[in-house]
Amino acid sequence: MSWRDHGIEALVQPDEGLVSPEIFHDQELFDIESRKLFMRTWLFVGHESQLVKRGDFISTYMGLNPVLVVRQRDGGIKVMLNACRHRGMKVCRADGGNSRAFTCTFHGWSYGLDGELNNVPMQDTAYGDRLDRSQYGLVQVPRVDTYKGLIFANFDESAPSLLDYLGDMTWYLDALVDRREGGIEVLGGVHKIVHRGNWKMGAEQFAGDNYHAFLTHVSASMSWRDEDAEGDPNPLKAGLQFTSRAGHGIAGWRKNGMDDAPYVPSPDYELVAKYYRDTAAEVRNRLGAERVDGPSLTAGNVFPNFSYLSRVFCHNSIGVWHPRTPDTFQYWRYCVVDKAAPPEVKRAIMNNMHIWPLGVADSDDGENWSEISANLTSPAVRDTMLNYQMGMGAARDDHPLFPGTITESYVAEESHRNFYRRWQEFMASDEYPDLKSGVLTATGATAGKE
Ligand code: FES
Ligand SMILES: [Fe+2]
Repeated sequence: MSWRDHGIEALVQPDEGLVSPEIFHDQELFDIESRKLFMRTWLFVGHESQLVKRGDFISTYMGLNPVLVVRQRDGGIKVMLNACRHRGMKVCRADGGNSRAFTCTFHGWSYGLDGELNNVPMQDTAYGDRLDRSQYGLVQVPRVDTYKGLIFANFDESAPSLLDYLGDMTWYLDALVDRREGGIEVLGGVHKIVHRGNWKMGAEQFAGDNYHAFLTHVSASMSWRDEDAEGDPNPLKAGLQFTSRAGHGIAGWRKNGMDDAPYVPSPDYELVAKYYRDTAAEVRNRLGAERVDGPSLTAGNVFPNFSYLSRVFCHNSIGVWHPRTPDTFQYWRYCVVDKAAPPEVKRAIMNNMHIWPLGVADSDDGENWSEISANLTSPAVRDTMLNYQMGMGAARDDHPLFPGTITESYVAEESHRNFYRRWQEFMASDEYPDLKSGVLTATGATAGKE
């Protein structure tokens, strides 16, 4: 029986902990998602360190929509659709760079940094006085805002402010992006990994799934685990999971930093671990004791598709799960470091991108996602609801130190339930879906809780 017989509301039953596999496969749901989710949520489009000079630009996507993110002559940032108003060609096919204009390679319409249509070849001959260039600039994405260097954009004028949208998540993000004066910077280019699977498989995992790590990644972790190290061989077991009614989540917040992770010693690892020890007092003064060592050995996800992975084998990365089709996505990964870190520490963090995100461990995850996708060609599999019940009833909203909804990290799928609850609200609502029973949080933003 198709989901169409029961409606979108039946696809996700967060209070029962049930999710239909159709949401990972169905083309019609994917089409609805591409508008109702990706054209109304705040989406990460780049980091300010990638746009240093005026004319610097990044080419990326907001959902399926190709966009250019451009540093303006006045220092501001504009985000505009990378689609020529003549026939829809991309006006810029580079991943990024610096430019004075964006000139379409089909017939040569040329747009300024602000998206204005400045030149049309042979305009007088071709159009006489019929073409009003002021009406045919690149389509602007109306909402653009930054959070401590992270650039977000939103197609929906009625969406809440970025700060309200992030809510409690800012407290956790700060421990990644605001540890030291100057925040973070992106090092190098963007790693783009094509996966078979639905983008939500990656997003939900980063929002809350430490449970998979030491089975899925058992062979990878054996390669870097120090057999002689004392202590728990599974450091992800400890820690807290944060989630919010707005759909954000963190797989696990772990104190104790890298120092008790049972990694095979290496010069890079020692260097980066020492850097975190050396900067601990400064971070304590800046953010308080709870965030000195966090986030560590963990992943997080800002709803719907902006993720990070922190201090796993001494690297840090941020990334985006870009949907492509119901069964394919691209994961874009950026290496990030404290801007104030010494060059040798930056180099060590960059060197270790290949250990986890770009090497042995990502392929473990990709194997799961592609196998699930292959199974979803089966109508019987798609008819069978999936179990998302772990840790139901165990969450608390009144943790004395950590804002948001908190559970133990290894044994909870509260993040998943909140992620899909919010997903369903966007999918089912024609209006911008307000959070139900919103409350004022520690950050002063509105974020609903159950
Ligand atoms: S499609 Fe761009 S100039 Fe024709
Ligand atoms: Fe994983």
